[in-house]
Amino acid sequence: MNFLPDLDTPAVVVDLDVLEKNIQRMAARAREAGVRLRPHAKTHKIPEIGRLQLAAGASGISLAKTGEAEVFAAAGFRDLFLAYPIVGTEKARRLLALSDRVRLAVGTDSVEGVSSVGAAFHAAGRRLDVLLKVDCGYHRVGVSAERAVETARQIAEVPGISLRGVFTHAGHAYLATARQEIDAIARQEGEIPAAAAGAIRAAGLPVEEVSVGSTPTARAAMEIGGVTECRPGNYVYHDASQVSLGTCGIEDCAMTVLATVISVPAANRAVLDCGSKTLSSDVLRPRPSGHGWILGRKSRIEKLSEEHGVVRVEPEEAFRVGEKVAVLPNHACVVSNLHDRIVLARGERVEGEWTVAARGKVR
Ligand SMILES: Cc1ncc(COP(=O)(O)O)c(C=O)c1O
Repeated sequence: MNFLPDLDTPAVVVDLDVLEKNIQRMAARAREAGVRLRPHAKTHKIPEIGRLQLAAGASGISLAKTGEAEVFAAAGFRDLFLAYPIVGTEKARRLLALSDRVRLAVGTDSVEGVSSVGAAFHAAGRRLDVLLKVDCGYHRVGVSAERAVETARQIAEVPGISLRGVFTHAGHAYLATARQEIDAIARQEGEIPAAAAGAIRAAGLPVEEVSVGSTPTARAAMEIGGVTECRPGNYVYHDASQVSLGTCGIEDCAMTVLATVISVPAANRAVLDCGSKTLSSDVLRPRPSGHGWILGRKSRIEKLSEEHGVVRVEPEEAFRVGEKVAVLPNHACVVSNLHDRIVLARGERVEGEWTVAARGKVR
């Protein structure tokens, strides 16, 4: 039997007790709100975790990239939504191959984009389901609410395409510095696509799905009338940003990075064997501050290079070379994408490993 202090580092460790609790809690919330839960598996990219989410009641899985869908389809998943604008004939060809065995839908916010994938489906005598992305204030992708009906009409006429619904994502909640602000964003995340769906239906088009969700907003957004589906992702692991936002406590964070102190070159400086290639360069949200929290310590990682995490040591603390520490990363989703495997633990006991099967599938 292995224990965490025996592990070689850096190692990404996921506590199964916390992971299972997080999965159950979100599933219960969706059940109580009466919406389908379609977790975004971009966070973990691990089919074994997707299966735990389905076993807890999820109706299907969300992903972003075609390559991620190929990995999950090969692992046996049969209901996938790519919550991302899919564009291009090459991806259309791969999606067509997947659609033999998977109930598939993709995101879009343009008739040009959807036409570039519709042609392959039309030529094969098939149809691809799409959800129109509506902007709820994040201002990344998505049509404005005012343009939703007109774009939905155009999309519904594209050969090889069926409009299944609308979706949105309130990524701007990560910049909110007060709970009331997050709740207000969550309400808009539900109300804006629900109103767009109503207007599209009034124009004579069917809208089966109104899909919303991020981890900070999920709880409130899924309560809004008209919402049918929620797609939180980060909640399986949580991270330092979710704690800073008030979404959860440190005890709800399942993922940590075990690191070794490799140098203490000065009393006020220690260096860990985890740099940006391990922790990523993603900043703490909502307010950037350091590169992850060393659990049980006040000292913070103030600087990263590729393989070094430089800690400013607080006067009352000391680090010694060879010592191992657990780091709570700023953003768990990107950490997953940097590692081939995660170590599974329950408390200090190591229980095995899972492969991050869909890591790096950016196409
Ligand atoms: C389109 C979309 N839906 C859902 C999610 C899940 O959000 P979160 O990671 O906050 O749970 C994301 C995350 O980036 C996303 O981009």
